[in-house]
Amino acid sequence: MSSERDTDSDWNQLGAVDPFWAVITDERFRADKMDTTTREAFYESGFGNVDQFHTALKHYFSAPDHFEACLDFGAGVGRLLVPMAKRANHAVGVDIADSMRAVCQTRLDELGLTAVELVATPKAAAAFGPFDWINSFIVLQHIPPARGMELMADLLATLRPGGFLSLQLTSFRDAHLMAQDTAGPVRKLLREVRASLFPDPQLGQISMFDYDLGQVLALLTRAGCPRFVLEHTDHGGHHGFMIYAQKVAG
Ligand SMILES: C[S@@+](CC[C@H](N)C(=O)[O-])C[C@H]1O[C@@H](n2cnc3c(N)ncnc32)[C@H](O)[C@@H]1O
Repeated sequence: MSSERDTDSDWNQLGAVDPFWAVITDERFRADKMDTTTREAFYESGFGNVDQFHTALKHYFSAPDHFEACLDFGAGVGRLLVPMAKRANHAVGVDIADSMRAVCQTRLDELGLTAVELVATPKAAAAFGPFDWINSFIVLQHIPPARGMELMADLLATLRPGGFLSLQLTSFRDAHLMAQDTAGPVRKLLREVRASLFPDPQLGQISMFDYDLGQVLALLTRAGCPRFVLEHTDHGGHHGFMIYAQKVAG
């Protein structure tokens, strides 16, 4: 039995119970507190993020104002997907959680955004590609790295030559956050024993994982993105990078 946590089930549960709070863990966005004003404030925050990513791609790699096709990996309830879709002829949101995709679809319907597809995996998204812009923000940090690396390889395979990438992941953390996920062999053994005795403890946890940045950059290089710009991110002591890159033209 794998000792790796089933984060897919966690996210499906989070999406069913508290989808907006699970995306941005601000008490204002708890399901029982959300009203029309806070819901709009939640979605508004996505426009600022997407503007920042797009501006960076324009600055570093001369990305265009508008794209043919774009993809948001870990789209959640559509916070970033909606503003991305407004900058493209068609868009795809990838999210493993059925519950998240359902909330996202409701938002797309409300806004009348019809040129947007929602799918569960990058492999399923490939049918709608290739993509000129692939984005992912605050997603890979929640996926165990071995799997996250495979998903990144699948995503990069759908990036059109000349296409742009804005991708965030975590790679180190402050000392006070050095909990069971990164500790040594004794804790690892205890974790494996606990996972085999209690296969699904506390469904709906938000787990954090750190990636090996060298491995990530090797993957990008081999996938045709040998030039990248890294911007440091720090979310409450979880440090990582926003990686901006462009795939070499074919
Ligand atoms: C913190 S939310 C971020 C949502 C969105 N990126 C945003 O910034 O608004 C993380 C999202 O990643 C999704 N996710 C987690 N594991 C995934 C996986 N293996 N494949 C695709 N999506 C995943 C979750 O279901 C959740 O919707």
